[in-house]
Formats: sequence, structure tokens, C-alpha cells
Amino acid sequence: MPEIYKDKTKPAEERAQDLLARMTVPEKAAQMLQLPYSKMTREEALGWAEKGLGSFLHVLGDNARELQATALKTRLGIPVIFGIDAIHGHGLNDKATIFPTQLAAACSWNKELIEEMGRVTAREVATDGLHWTFSPVLCLGRDARWGRVDETFGEDPYLAGELGAAVIKGYQGDNMDGEESILACAKHYAGYGEAVGARDSCDTGMTFRKMREVFLPPFEKAVKAGCATFMTAYGSIDGTPFTASEKALRQILKDELGFDGFIVTDWDNVTSLVTYQRAAADMEEASHLAVKAGNDMMMTSAGFYEAAVKLVENKKLDEKLLDDAVLRILRIKFQMGLFEQPEKKGRPGCFSCGEHLEANKKLARESIVLLKNDDVLPLQKEKLKIAVIGPNADDIRAQYGDWTYFSHPEPDPEREPQRPYFTVLEGMREVAKETGAEITYHRGCGVLDENDADLDGAEQAAKESDVIILVIGDVIEQIGETKDRANLDLSGAQQALFDRLKKLEKPIVTVLVSSKPLCIQKIAEESDALIAAFNGGMFGGLVVAEAVFGKLNPSGKLPISFPRHTGQIPVYYNSLPGWHGGKYMDLPETPLFTFGEGLSYTSYEYSNLKLDEKRLVLSVDVTNAGKLDGTETVQVYFRDVVSSVLTPVKQLIAFQKTALKAGETKTVTFRLDKSDFSLVTPDEKRVTEPGELVIMAGPSAKEDSLLEIGVVV
Ligand code: BGC
Repeated sequence: MPEIYKDKTKPAEERAQDLLARMTVPEKAAQMLQLPYSKMTREEALGWAEKGLGSFLHVLGDNARELQATALKTRLGIPVIFGIDAIHGHGLNDKATIFPTQLAAACSWNKELIEEMGRVTAREVATDGLHWTFSPVLCLGRDARWGRVDETFGEDPYLAGELGAAVIKGYQGDNMDGEESILACAKHYAGYGEAVGARDSCDTGMTFRKMREVFLPPFEKAVKAGCATFMTAYGSIDGTPFTASEKALRQILKDELGFDGFIVTDWDNVTSLVTYQRAAADMEEASHLAVKAGNDMMMTSAGFYEAAVKLVENKKLDEKLLDDAVLRILRIKFQMGLFEQPEKKGRPGCFSCGEHLEANKKLARESIVLLKNDDVLPLQKEKLKIAVIGPNADDIRAQYGDWTYFSHPEPDPEREPQRPYFTVLEGMREVAKETGAEITYHRGCGVLDENDADLDGAEQAAKESDVIILVIGDVIEQIGETKDRANLDLSGAQQALFDRLKKLEKPIVTVLVSSKPLCIQKIAEESDALIAAFNGGMFGGLVVAEAVFGKLNPSGKLPISFPRHTGQIPVYYNSLPGWHGGKYMDLPETPLFTFGEGLSYTSYEYSNLKLDEKRLVLSVDVTNAGKLDGTETVQVYFRDVVSSVLTPVKQLIAFQKTALKAGETKTVTFRLDKSDFSLVTPDEKRVTEPGELVIMAGPSAKEDSLLEIGVVV
């Protein structure tokens, strides 16, 4: 038989079919398995490579090369695909460009810059000899207690879908086989972030209608963007573990949405069907369920290999089901050019190169969110005395957040940070060189332990200053998988530190370097200015300083609401309507800050909202009414006046960033579509019902900030 699979002039599908026809059952089962290099000995890993393992994760450099060489020497020589969690940059490699986290980047609402973040990350991952990142997270951050909120694009399905599609395009480039392209992985399909009580990886109690209404849309956009792989969620849907849900995986994702890449499970999901979820008695039953449901590659469930082989040999599992999975994996391997080039060249020397750092800086600059400003920012006078105080002012680990070489595999306090980077303190010192400001610094307290505090020292350091920049937040010990928090109040002595500084009666600019919204109501009320910087990556500290000194005019908008109190969670803006204003007796019904909010050093006025009802073209005039040039993100929401199922009080359907010179007015137009106003019926159909709608446009989801117009569709 001619070896078509070796002929690079043939289409990927034909080559994959040809190769599949040559494979034995054990070779197929091995192809469907992915194992973690970091959790086994070198010999074990080489043994798996000899069996024809489909993929390894968490392996770098020469170790990966050795495995690949071994795989290529096997009977069929199918190359291994290497996966890595390059979550905000290729951060597990300490030479890489470390970007703002997804949540921080989402504050930019800038698709182009986020696509560029994907491109840069792909280039560095490819240069490192790897092929595939387990990113983006398309779960929604609706419950800030969850330890992984920083990994999301925030609380809204529309925004998450738009930004997710952008970063996927960046990772995969125009062609998957590009020298600088890697595979993206849309995860965790679906609803992982809805774990009950935000207890990581606990059950989600998802339903199909709810999934289709809220959680599926970003994943649909990922399919449309050509995302090569999907990762499944922990949790369940209508009582069936996602791993075992044929309806969720095979029927909806593959058949209905037409996803033609491959699905990888999350960490040990097949084994978990036995150990945690008690949905299967043993690995054979679990493997049977997983394959039947439509999982193509099993992450870290090593027992799958033997179980799958046995199942087919004993005729308990139709080999055709393995074929479907293996074909999907091989097709992607051919499409990405792996057979011709098992290791991409990437762009040698590109790690943290000038171009990459510039892309990073641009994104960081647009990710700064100014939440309050009582005429204190930007700092105006020359030669100011500035006290930079607080535990996160000079902690690069906290600034980076999760998924960097500091936080994985285990946080190592001795690990040396790699330049270039700027903490807020360093950024302040850098920019102060231009203004002649004098900077003093005191850490004040730690974040984890109330006894770790020197409030007298902090007071002393701030006493002679004209203004205090207080940098507080959370640290990596509080972020990530299994690090959910029951209480989002400031930890350690941070509140006490604020209270002490407040007594000095000086202007306080509070900067939040944190992985998520924290409950800072008192601080928000009592600070003179407030900046949410989240985890801004290498330049997070520099761009805060640029904003403080007015070198940049903040333009970021929140992708997530800030609760007033942990007990108020969840507080996402697009809730379903209910009685009694959805209010607790001891709290206002509104969040502290709402989705979409973000100020600047100028002010914008909205007027003249118009809708061409026939063409569904919406327009609104936006005026920069202040004295500085700026960039505003115009947001469009809608509400269904009467609908057959409950629909959100408002839902984002479009946004546009627009630059406005001081005094300038622009008419911003949006071409809307009937499908923007759709809902999901009780029998899970997406339809647009005829009737009246209210369309809103403005600077945020805050009720009083929006102009409204009615329309009958
Ligand atoms: C996480 C995934 C991650 C995978 C591999 C899992 O525990 O949930 O997001 O990609 O591990 O590291």
C-alpha cells in the first residue's frame, strides 16, 4: 500500500485516514492519551513515547526533544504533540514575556492587543519547541470567591467570547502550520466557574438550557474562530459528569457546532469518574463512558490505555469510536505540519525581545482601570514627596499572579525573578526621574498574616509626604486552583494599614494589585483615588506609575463587578429579574463597581442615541468634554421587554473603543443583528422572539449611565 500519510502533498484528511488504517488498537489507545512529564521518571516517559503516546504536557526543552526523537523511531513514527499552560504569556519559562492575566487584559476591551498577546505567546512557545497552549479560559468569572477568576475574561459571555476569539486567532495565526503558530485550547467546556459556592472543581449543577443561554456562547465563538482543541470541564450537566456527557460533547460541540478539532479532558477526568464522581465502577467503565461521550484525548488518566485496549479486544467498545477520536487527533497533527516539522523553529532570540515587550506594554497601558478620582490624579506638581506604601508595592510575585514560574509547579519563595519587570515602586521611581518627585517606601504589612505588620514604620514613612500611594491586594498563595476564598475582605493587616494612614489626613491613592475584585467598600469610600491594576504582568507597575503621573490617560473598563461584601456574591450585572430588587436588607442592591465602569482624566458625554429600525443600525454621539485626549469604550446593551423565558435585566451585545481628542465629538455606529436579541427556549432552541426591546448605550452597565431607545423587532 502506498504510504499516503507520508505524502505532504496530500490533504490532511486523506493522510490521517491512511495512517489510521495502519494503526493497531494499542497504538490508537496510546494516541488518545496525554501524560504529564513532570509527574513521572524519565524512563517511564520514554517508555510511553515508545508505545506511541499522543501527547505529553508540562515538558520543556531537551526533555521534549528526547521524547520526540523516541516517538519518531516507533513503527509508524507519529510525532508527539507537547502541551503547556501558557496562560498569560509562556510564563512557566522564566525568560518569557509575562503579560497581564486574562482578567487584567480584559480591562482593555481591546481585541487587537489581545490577539497580539496571543501571537507573541505563540511565538515564544513555538520557539521553545512546544505546540499547544491550554488557553484561553472561556469560563465566566461570576463568583469572585473562585480561585481562578484571574484566568477568565470576566463575567460576561459576549465580552469573553470576543476576547477569546481574538486570542485564539493570535495563538493559531493564519495557518496552524505557521512557524510561529501553536494550537489554542478553549477551556473548560463548560461552566467550570459555576462550581457551587465557588469551591474549585466541585460540582456545577449546570443544566443544558442554562449552558446554552450563558456559558456556551463564548465557546461557539471559539469554534467559529477555528480553535483546534477544547478542554472539558470538571462538574456535571443535568446530573451527568461532563466527561460522560455525550450530549454536551458529541452532540452539541461536535455535531451541532461543527467542531472538527479534538477534545482533551481536564486533569485526570476519566479516573475521576471512578474516584470522585462515582459515575463508574472502574477504569474500564470510566474509559467506556469517556470515549462514548466524545472525549478524544485523556489527560493524565494513564489507566485509560489498558482499559481501552481491553474494552475493544473484548468487544465491549466499538473500535469505530476510537477511530473517530484518533482521526481527529491525527488530522490536527497533519494540519499543523507536525509530520514535516516535529519541532517548529519559532523565532530564535524572541524571548522578551523588544517587539514582545512593546506589545506587552501597550496592552498593560490599556488595562489600567481608574475607579475613583477626587481631583487628586494625575499628580500635577513637580517635586512632590510621595510615599509608596503597602505589601504589593514591591512584590513581583503578587503582580504576576498565577501561572508563572513563581507559582508552578509549587510556589518557591527562593525563586529569583527575571528582568525586565517593574513593580509599582520601581515604576514610580522610574517615572519620578522625569518629574523630580521624591519617593519613600514602606511595606507596611504582609498580606497573609495579621501579625506581619509595622504600622508605625509605615506611618513614619508617610508622615512627611504630600500624597500616599497605597498598594494592596492579594498574593499568589491566595490565587489559583484549590485557592478559593470564603472571605474577600482584605487579608492580613491591610485594612488596619489603610486606617492608620488615613489618620495622617493626606490624599491617598489606593492601587489594587490583585487577582480579582476584593471587598474594599470602606477603602473605596475613603480613598481619594482608586486604581484597579489586577495582575498586570511585567509592566503592571510601570503603567500604574504612568497613570499616576498622567503620562497615560486611563481607559480600562471593568470586565467584572466588584461586590460590596462577600455575602453579596454573585453580583454580575446581567442577572435575571426578580422581586424585591434583588436586595439584602443590610446592603444596597448595586455592586460597589459595576461591569463596564472605568473613568479617565477627561469626561465623556453621550447624546443623540438613534436606531435605524429597518437596518438595525444604532448610532450614538460621544463627546470628549474634558481637556485631555482619551479613549472611550462605548457599550451597547439590550433588554427584552416581554419574553417567554426570563431574560437578563440587560445584556451586552456590542462595544467599540474610540479615541477622542479633547473637545471632539464622534458618532459611533453599530450594526446590530436580530440574533443579538435571541434567547434560549425551554426546549433549548435559540430564537429571537418578536416584540419590543430596549436598547441602551453608554459608558458602563450602571443603570443611570445609559441612554435608552425602544424598538419593535
Ligand atoms: C486545569 C487546567 C490545566 C490543566 C493542565 C488542570 O488542573 O484545570 O486548566 O490546563 O490542569 O495543567
